[in-house]
Amino acid sequence: MILVTGGAGFIGGNFVLQALQANVGGLVNLDKLTYAGNLQTLQSIHHFPNYSFYQGDIGDKSLVSKLLIQHRPSAIINFAAESHVDRSIHGPQDFIQTNIVGTFNLLESARLYFDTLEGSEKDHFRFLHVSTDEVYGTLEKSAPAFSETNPYEPNSPYAASKAASDHLVRAWFHTYGLPVLTTNCSNNYGPYQFPEKLIPLVINNALKGKPLPIYGDGLQVRDWLYVTDHCEAIYTVLHKGKLGETYNIGGNNEKTNISVVQTICSILDQLKPRSDQKSYAEQITFVKDRPGHDRRYAINASKIASELGWKPKETFETGICKTVQWYLDNQDWVEGVVSGSYRDWVSKQYTE
Ligand code: NAD
Ligand code: DAU
Repeated sequence: MILVTGGAGFIGGNFVLQALQANVGGLVNLDKLTYAGNLQTLQSIHHFPNYSFYQGDIGDKSLVSKLLIQHRPSAIINFAAESHVDRSIHGPQDFIQTNIVGTFNLLESARLYFDTLEGSEKDHFRFLHVSTDEVYGTLEKSAPAFSETNPYEPNSPYAASKAASDHLVRAWFHTYGLPVLTTNCSNNYGPYQFPEKLIPLVINNALKGKPLPIYGDGLQVRDWLYVTDHCEAIYTVLHKGKLGETYNIGGNNEKTNISVVQTICSILDQLKPRSDQKSYAEQITFVKDRPGHDRRYAINASKIASELGWKPKETFETGICKTVQWYLDNQDWVEGVVSGSYRDWVSKQYTE
């Protein structure tokens, strides 16, 4: 039995689907259902007898404690977070509340529960915290990729809040002996990603004939990891990771933003040509840069490869084709998530 938090979001949702389809056992999903949480993602498994969903906050200690006592999980995987950098710039409060205070409360609930366990239940219990490469800050063009020993130098309110949560997780291991694991991952993409993030936003805007906004000069570099590879890495760390350790997870796919957008345009040109036969690349528009925009992220994933035997299966070329095709095939899902509040966000971010 695993307690997943944030399992109605992009990565958590993919993890829940993958885990239940692979029949890994029972799963309890605790999600607040913010704008980013979507139960449509989980429609295919919501009736499974070994799955239960609770709407609630990771910071609600009495609810979390009740769930832990009732379901007696052997692991907690914490995906729940406010995750969008641009939103953290417009309004950092929710990021502090969920990512820092929420993680603190979750750790406390986990600690109280862990203290009640005995024997093999205690030996097997794990708390896995899902974090990001953004905690390491930004890299010069030719600097070596982030390894687990890089210093933390977060630059956005989002990255700072994730860095704080990582520090809390570490402290709960060293001070209280809570059996924790932390993963720091690069940019994920794939099915069910909310269309505020670069790749789904560009696909969605392209199909709607809207501008494809590129911040600044578009030469910022991100490492892209297909979401199912990330979920497999998390499962690997959960089962084989050494307690108290952190593991960097990456896709070995460093790309500039402009090249990612151009690739999406050329795939769409093939799969769903514009009615005027022009390329979707005509819709590319350079806009004001993100404040404090990190120039480059890159992940050195050699530790998880050599110690735990995990490597990504998808290349960017295979993953991005699957992703574009998924969005073309699942326009109903996209329409279901782009609510009034999504439209308010888009107008705030791209017109102000
Ligand atoms: P997401 O924004 O798509 O989903 C977050 C989920 O958490 C949503 O379902 C939301 O309803 C839920 N949630 C938010 N606040 C909550 C609270 N207080 N209590 C319970 N649930 C709450 O995020 P994602 O992209 O799936 O990211 C998942 C995790 O992975 C995050 O911790 C993020 O920092 C980390 N991460 C993401 C990426 C990426 O590229 N998306 C990369 C590295 C790490
Ligand atoms: O690196 C891991 C991180 O990746 C995660 O921790 C975050 O949760 C996740 O949101 C992601 O952060 P980024 O800021 O890198 O992702 P985003 O999709 O917002 O942007 C990717 C790049 O594209 C970034 O350099 C900003 C740029 N961008 C983004 C948007 C939304 C644009 O040029 N235009 C846009 O409209």
